[in-house]
Amino acid sequence: MCAAASGGILLREYHTFSLPVTAKALLLPTREEEVPTLARRADYIIGEGSNILPLGPMPVVLSTRDLKGYKVRAENTDGVEVEVFAGENWDAWVRLCIARGWHGLENLAGIPGSVGGAVVQNIGAYGIELAPFLVEVRGWNRRIEDWQTIPAEACEMGYRTSLFQKSAWQDQFIITRVVLRLKKRFEPVLSYPDVNQRIDSTRKQDPWCLYETVRAIRSEKLPSQGSAGSFFKNPVLSEAELASLKAKAPDVPFYPHGAGFFKVPAAWLIDRAGLKGYRVGGAQVHVRQPLVIVNTGSAIPQDIWGLAQYVQTKVYEKWGVLLEPEVRILFPIER
Ligand code: EPU
Repeated sequence: MCAAASGGILLREYHTFSLPVTAKALLLPTREEEVPTLARRADYIIGEGSNILPLGPMPVVLSTRDLKGYKVRAENTDGVEVEVFAGENWDAWVRLCIARGWHGLENLAGIPGSVGGAVVQNIGAYGIELAPFLVEVRGWNRRIEDWQTIPAEACEMGYRTSLFQKSAWQDQFIITRVVLRLKKRFEPVLSYPDVNQRIDSTRKQDPWCLYETVRAIRSEKLPSQGSAGSFFKNPVLSEAELASLKAKAPDVPFYPHGAGFFKVPAAWLIDRAGLKGYRVGGAQVHVRQPLVIVNTGSAIPQDIWGLAQYVQTKVYEKWGVLLEPEVRILFPIER
């Protein structure tokens, strides 16, 4: 591992914002047995770094990206239960599942990051999310110094959230394996209008066609590098909050999100606040999907964070809605 000129390890290749930040050390276990010892030294736990914003020189970072492999745990005519290591690349995993005839994940094509990160965030896109496929999660718990298996029911999976984001678990529980239940029968989910309109109607029963359609839609809207996907979550409003937003923005789109709650597209709020393409230094609000903040090549962490805070303030001033970051902000820690 090369040390950066200023000392420490350059993290540019280890997170998707590609910022010029260093870490005091980067720990990369390749086998599960190495995790307990390395975990003692770690301050922050990451996967492929596709949902983090490191704000400056990092302390010791442990990445699970090199924990690879999978095995079938159970199988019958309807489906399989597969155990997959946390470091497998998510998109490669989706492709492997399709190739092996294991279905359900096709709409989650092309999402950057690792399998472990996918659970922490409960990734979702184009009409589905990860949660319903989850059986259990195994990992090392630093607080009790032991391995633990957490059943899906206890993982508190919600919209872009899970148990593993809570303060008692974040950086304390290192996910090493995930068990997923997948189907052998392919039943395409075409509820997302773009997917339904774009899919080749003669190939609807071909999982690769759905995979490719989702990838094509993503590539038109989302930048291929220099971002962490959506920077903010779509806000979930109560009926009263939605009514007060509608008084200011009668044409705001909204979708039911559980009893008495409504999800509003943050992209719409940012767009209609006139922020598409807005720049701070090397950071820019993406021109095709304003929920995404991009490093145009020369950004420093403060550009990204300064722009995110600007967007948050402007959206709040205009619409009275506070956007919550979806990206995890990693603050420098002096050690
Ligand atoms: N919109 C605008 N202007 C734009 C773009 C979008 O007003 O320039 C509005 C439109 O009303 C559009 C709505 O925003 O219908 C929603 O846009 P989109 O379908 O692109 O999805 P999103 O809600 O912005 C979410 C996820 C994405 C996921 C897509 C597709 C979150 C935080 N983001 O974005 O996930 O790919 O849906 O399902 O929920 C990610 O988490 O990093 C991510 C990219």
